[in-house]
Amino acid sequence: MIERKTDTNKKDEEKVDIKFEETLRPRKFSEYIGQKQVKKSVDLAIRAAKNRKESLDHVLLYGPPGLGKTTLANVIANEMKRAVKVTSGPAIERAGDLASILTNMNDGDVLFIDEIHRLPRNVEEILYPAMEDYVLDIMLGKGPSAQSLRLDLPKFTIIGATTRFGALSGPFRDRFGIIHRLNYYLVDEIEEILKRSARIMNLQAEKNALAELSKRSRLTPRIANRLLKRVRDYAQVHGDGKINLSQVDSSLKLLEVDEIGLDSSDRHILLTIIKNYKGGPVGVAAIAAAANEERQTIEDVYEPYLIQIGFLERTHRGRKVTEKAYKHLDIKKSKKDQQKLL
Ligand SMILES: Nc1ncnc2c1ncn2[C@@H]1O[C@H](COP(=O)(O)OP(=O)(O)OP(=O)(O)O)[C@@H](O)[C@H]1O
Ligand SMILES: [Mg+2]
Repeated sequence: MIERKTDTNKKDEEKVDIKFEETLRPRKFSEYIGQKQVKKSVDLAIRAAKNRKESLDHVLLYGPPGLGKTTLANVIANEMKRAVKVTSGPAIERAGDLASILTNMNDGDVLFIDEIHRLPRNVEEILYPAMEDYVLDIMLGKGPSAQSLRLDLPKFTIIGATTRFGALSGPFRDRFGIIHRLNYYLVDEIEEILKRSARIMNLQAEKNALAELSKRSRLTPRIANRLLKRVRDYAQVHGDGKINLSQVDSSLKLLEVDEIGLDSSDRHILLTIIKNYKGGPVGVAAIAAAANEERQTIEDVYEPYLIQIGFLERTHRGRKVTEKAYKHLDIKKSKKDQQKLL
């Protein structure tokens, strides 16, 4: 079982941020902004299950970080009016850990497994019959005297979340009846999220300030909320409390977030491909080595957004920086310009 790590030495400001993080997290469908298709279809499944007085089918949510997977999992449990237990793939090390969690649940309860792609393979395998037939086969002892024990389980619902859909095995994926990819939000939806957050945080903001912020938040709620908190700090120190456009500009400049929301790491990755590989195509492993970043971070965090906004292309020979990105970075593809970069 994981719990939020709380560091007692955390600065007060960070503690306040954690508190806000909790209050900012939507609890009901009505508060969960955007992801219309996903919401519609999950809402339907919930209503039907409630109607039949059955537990909800297992749900798998995937997509880049910060788009609301954990939030949606909690909303689902809440809408089902069921208790939710929270754990994560790496936290369940042995079959016994899983057995003790599952046997302590009630019919209809939700087990939320974050980072579900990191479940150990042996645990994943005993989860198959648990998900399908609500039974658990446990081996007691070792060697010739080993005995197998079959436990009946309550009719629970697993909600799994992952940033790496591809890392799940086929048979595992197939055991989820409801599978959804969360997508990047529309700018308007991010603006709505920011308005809601500003209201909860008791912040006054000019309309154009939040509109600007929503364009620079990587279409991601978590980033939008994080930037809003930093702009709030800036406005508190430099202004009269009401957030305006020029404060948004100045604080994002300090954070090195550019006018379309790219941060220094995004630019560093693009520039690395341009400088070292003439813009690509080049494999992710090579980009990671040259940019001094972890391959997985590039694949899970940076690349999906750069592809989404059309700055990076995935080809069968690797990743390629697009014309659009060259333009934004104000780099010409000419030899002379390339030389300047070196
Ligand atoms: N649809 C939404 N409406 C309003 N706020 C949202 C929404 N989705 C997410 N948020 C906000 O963004 C924050 C991050 O969302 P969440 O933690 O659910 O992302 P995640 O997809 O689980 O990310 P990770 O992959 O890193 O675990 C939440 O705390 C919440 O405040
Ligand atoms: Mg999460």
